[in-house]
Amino acid sequence: MQSNRRKFIKSLSAASALVATESVARPFGMPSYIPNLMKISPNDKIRLATIGMGIQGNFDTRAALRNPDVELVGVSDLYDGRLEHAKTAFGKDKELFATRDYREILARPDIDAVIVVVPDHWHDHITIAALKAGKNVYCEKPMVQHLSEGKAVIDAWKKSGKTMQVGSQRISSAAFQEAKRLVDAGEIGPINYIESNNDRFNAIGAWQYSIPPDASTQTLDWDRFLGDAPKRPFDAKRFFRWRNYKDYGTGVAGDLFIHLITGVHFVTNTLGPTRIYSSGNLAYWKDGRDVPDVMSCIMDYPKTDQHEAFQMVLRVNFANAGKINDVTRIIGSEGQIEFSENNLIMTKKKLPVAPGYGGYDSFFTFTEPVQQEFVKQYDVQYPPETRTAEPVKEVKFEAPKDDDAHAKHFANFFENVRLGSQGTVEDPVFGFRAAAPVLACNESYFEQKVVYWDPVTMTQKNPTAKTTPKKTLASAKATAKKS
Ligand SMILES: NC(=O)c1ccc[n+]([C@@H]2O[C@H](COP(=O)([O-])OP(=O)(O)OC[C@H]3O[C@@H](n4cnc5c(N)ncnc54)[C@H](O)[C@@H]3O)[C@@H](O)[C@H]2O)c1
Repeated sequence: MQSNRRKFIKSLSAASALVATESVARPFGMPSYIPNLMKISPNDKIRLATIGMGIQGNFDTRAALRNPDVELVGVSDLYDGRLEHAKTAFGKDKELFATRDYREILARPDIDAVIVVVPDHWHDHITIAALKAGKNVYCEKPMVQHLSEGKAVIDAWKKSGKTMQVGSQRISSAAFQEAKRLVDAGEIGPINYIESNNDRFNAIGAWQYSIPPDASTQTLDWDRFLGDAPKRPFDAKRFFRWRNYKDYGTGVAGDLFIHLITGVHFVTNTLGPTRIYSSGNLAYWKDGRDVPDVMSCIMDYPKTDQHEAFQMVLRVNFANAGKINDVTRIIGSEGQIEFSENNLIMTKKKLPVAPGYGGYDSFFTFTEPVQQEFVKQYDVQYPPETRTAEPVKEVKFEAPKDDDAHAKHFANFFENVRLGSQGTVEDPVFGFRAAAPVLACNESYFEQKVVYWDPVTMTQKNPTAKTTPKKTLASAKATAKKS
């Protein structure tokens, strides 16, 4: 699959020669507009295009535009209805460039930055092509679909010198920033365990998104949608509900675990786990999907100079008809942080030095003289001041009402674009270190194995040797030819 993907990227790059030539023909190998960005007056706008105008593409675009110095000039999507919708929603007062072919966006020298908000199997291809074309890139999470794809994106980013932000916007929320401050300050002691449940019980929540009645090979580009995925006849369900298929999506791990892991990596400064195991099954939503709707995973984070060793346990249950009690908790040996919506509650609890005796304890099983001797020694060892626990303290952090993590995440991106800096809060190295554990969850689930990961070098220690499925290669060639 990997070599297959490489070939696909190669053919795509060849097809995108036009885009690349545009860039290299200019002085210093850069499109003319980009270097000027740093010098333009503060009133000038960053010119933005969104590639993928589906659900999140609309939310991302709106969040980006809540920043004052940005304007949307183009959109790309494979379904005509969404291009039309985008023109109405975002192009009322101006001409919005709209195309099915994202390479036409990348070929325009007047576009500074793109949002890549397409199904997961397209993330690496479009991101790499965009960076090569000299665009700054905001790419949705998870940064890539498979463990083997992260390094190519990182390399392209480094080589390009462009700004890139990965889109797990919650780390830009006031609550996550406060959690980071509390953990850094040692308020909950060394972290030993992190848990999160994210359950649902409704069809839309389980990704049965609405399918437009005009969906057909006339109104959308099915072949391009498939990209490097196996070739198959048109299926509107696969196009509009791609999350349900491992050819295009990353299942509950890539969709939901990723947000928590990104948050945890941000809060703890960790580089990632070394051992990942997951299990689950398809319990309820048997609508043709090939990804589980119940999944749990356990990850071991080793001790580093930033934190002690801790374990992380995550669960999603899309078939929870019982009481849904979602919780995300970071637990340390002196307290915990529990997230709720945009807020958090920290509970501090510190044990006294003296362990105590009596109650459900072995003390009563001793003989009377031994008990007396025990008490004598205990009193010497534990004077009164060591016997009382600090009172339990609860601190509630309420994020400001107007805290807009999504717009702030974009603001961080745009600030760095203006500075010509690569120092975003969620750059591709961070983005891949957060994506890798969730992608490992999928590999663990589908191949029923423990995944061993080196978070420092970002390499898998036990990758599975893959054969190249002929079908995939054929589909890649077909797409490249068509494009
Ligand atoms: N950060 C978040 O909170 C968040 C939330 C939801 C989704 N997402 C991510 O956003 C991405 C998109 O999810 P969605 O829910 O919007 O999906 P969606 O199906 O609603 O939209 C995806 C759109 O991409 C278009 N597309 C597919 N391939 C394309 C290509 N090669 N060129 C141009 N357009 C193409 C499709 O036509 C479709 O309209 C996913 O990666 C998802 O994980 C992130």
